[in-house]
Amino acid sequence: MYNSKITGLGFYVPENVVTNDDLSKFMDTNDAWIQERTGIKERHWIPDGSEDSSAIMGAKAARIAIERSGLTSKDIDFIVFATLSPDYFFPGCGVQIQDMLDMKTIGAIDIRNQCSGFIYALSTADQFIKTGMYKNILVIGAEYHSNGLDKSTRGRGVSVIFGDGAGACVLSRTEDNNKGILSSHLHSEGKHADKLIVASPSIKNWVPEIIDSKGKDISYFPYMDGTFVFKNAIVRFSEVIMEGLTANNLSVNDIDLFIPHQANLRISQFIQQRFKLRDDQVYNNIMNYGNTTAASIIIALSEAWEKGKIKDNDLVVLAAFGSGFTWGSVVMKW
Ligand code: ACO
Repeated sequence: MYNSKITGLGFYVPENVVTNDDLSKFMDTNDAWIQERTGIKERHWIPDGSEDSSAIMGAKAARIAIERSGLTSKDIDFIVFATLSPDYFFPGCGVQIQDMLDMKTIGAIDIRNQCSGFIYALSTADQFIKTGMYKNILVIGAEYHSNGLDKSTRGRGVSVIFGDGAGACVLSRTEDNNKGILSSHLHSEGKHADKLIVASPSIKNWVPEIIDSKGKDISYFPYMDGTFVFKNAIVRFSEVIMEGLTANNLSVNDIDLFIPHQANLRISQFIQQRFKLRDDQVYNNIMNYGNTTAASIIIALSEAWEKGKIKDNDLVVLAAFGSGFTWGSVVMKW
């Protein structure tokens, strides 16, 4: 069995910054409410007229990651793309990347696991490398949320949280068993699917039905039972972090850097306090990006790495919880 490790990583967000004050111009909200409940100060939203999309942002992040890995797009054996906001109902964004990066006719899959999407994507890529099937896999998380949000006061409980962006990494084979991904742990609980959902359009409720409802059907906007999600998130985050540490005979004290999915700063702070982690052991950037769902962990990981916060041999723990519900963790030695 081989091990896999990240050999290159990068991220891209649209230049357009939307502050909390900007939001209050078109919905009844304010900076104090948003910062107090979520920690978010600003997010990046694709502006009208931009060419950016989940696939295009993903490709921009991927080019950076591939260059930093010292490879070219021709060296990539497989693509795993995590998003809940694909450019098309089908096909997925992974195949667009194969074309945009002028790659060989390699395989490409999309992962539809929302906030846990990047953890699932990384774990999937890791399995392909562990079995020896592939050597270099491009793993991308990207989201174009802003075009699908209810930007009226009706949607304020959800829309203020989300941002657009993409991150990518190259996961490569290593024969050093003490380096790279040590383990990953994935879970789901589908009975809570309707607590955080975009229900339409679906094959059951297709576009003509939505239009016929004359605006009464708002199932195409994200719905979230925020309190319920919050309560489940803090339980599952804690469980899955401990599951990862225990599986590797490690303890909380061994963590050099914990990067939680950037759902809400209050969730991250709760976990930090529960595990008694110092500020320098946790990396948060939701303040400047909002919740970018499948992109959030890889954007945070890339940014932390760019800032020199991850050193050789550091123990890095990633964890996520989100719609599905799904949750998971990855423990890796840098
Ligand atoms: N601006 C101003 N007021 C608002 C806003 C807003 N953007 N949104 C809601 N309000 C109002 C509500 O209308 C309500 O008013 P009322 O008391 O007059 O009815 C009041 O604020 C309280 O609303 P709640 O929804 O109860 O607010 P809560 O304190 O639960 O905070 C939040 C909402 C931030 C979403 C919270 O539930 C939460 O953190 N949930 C965790 C889920 C989460 O973080 N999800 C992120 C995405 S999912 C994921 O990635 C895991």
